[in-house]
Amino acid sequence: MSPLFFSSHSHSNGFQLGCGHGLPGIFACLKGAAVIHFQDFNAEVLECLTIPNVNANCLKKSQNLATDVADQAELRFFAGDWSEVHQILPHIVTNGKDTNYSPGPDQSAGYDIIFMAETVYSISALPSLYKLIKKCMSRPHGVIYMAAKKHYFGVGGGSRRFLSVVEKDGVMAASPITEVADGSSNVREVLKLSYK
Ligand SMILES: C[S@@+](CC[C@H](N)C(=O)[O-])C[C@H]1O[C@@H](n2cnc3c(N)ncnc32)[C@H](O)[C@@H]1O
Repeated sequence: MSPLFFSSHSHSNGFQLGCGHGLPGIFACLKGAAVIHFQDFNAEVLECLTIPNVNANCLKKSQNLATDVADQAELRFFAGDWSEVHQILPHIVTNGKDTNYSPGPDQSAGYDIIFMAETVYSISALPSLYKLIKKCMSRPHGVIYMAAKKHYFGVGGGSRRFLSVVEKDGVMAASPITEVADGSSNVREVLKLSYK
């Protein structure tokens, strides 16, 4: 079974970084994830965009199970910069070599699946984004699914630039899931990253 899909009895926990509308997190919720946490830089985005969208999609009655989908999932929302938001996340890895943060008593060992879409456009933010991922992705089985343009013209970031940060660190490997090229706009791709 692909780790992107959760069984209805799954204990998998997922995290969407830079969520905005939160579509991948919502999809995971609808597929039976036990936990989905959402992060955005702005609390206002979470309040005005993410939470209403999650409510509209995840609180629908499930036709098959006749129960609220959200009854089965823990949905939480966290606002903050990637350089410090780990301090309020419940699922943090403590044995990573780059992690000197001590979790509270209710914190556990990382997220099984991290989703992100359109988060790697800013070159200056890539190191803090990657550090955060290493702090909160479970080891050794955690995976990241990231969707992005290969290159964002005008700002310089992109999936390829993010991969150069990952490759320089040397502990994770990336594999392609799909590529979308319409011949006129930037090439977009979905990548899966995991520990080697
Ligand atoms: C272009 S939006 C993408 C939103 C959504 N994932 C989508 O695909 O529509 C970029 C997201 O990354 C977040 N973000 C960018 N830089 C950040 C930073 N330094 N710290 C925390 N979040 C950041 C923004 O708050 C926003 O949620």
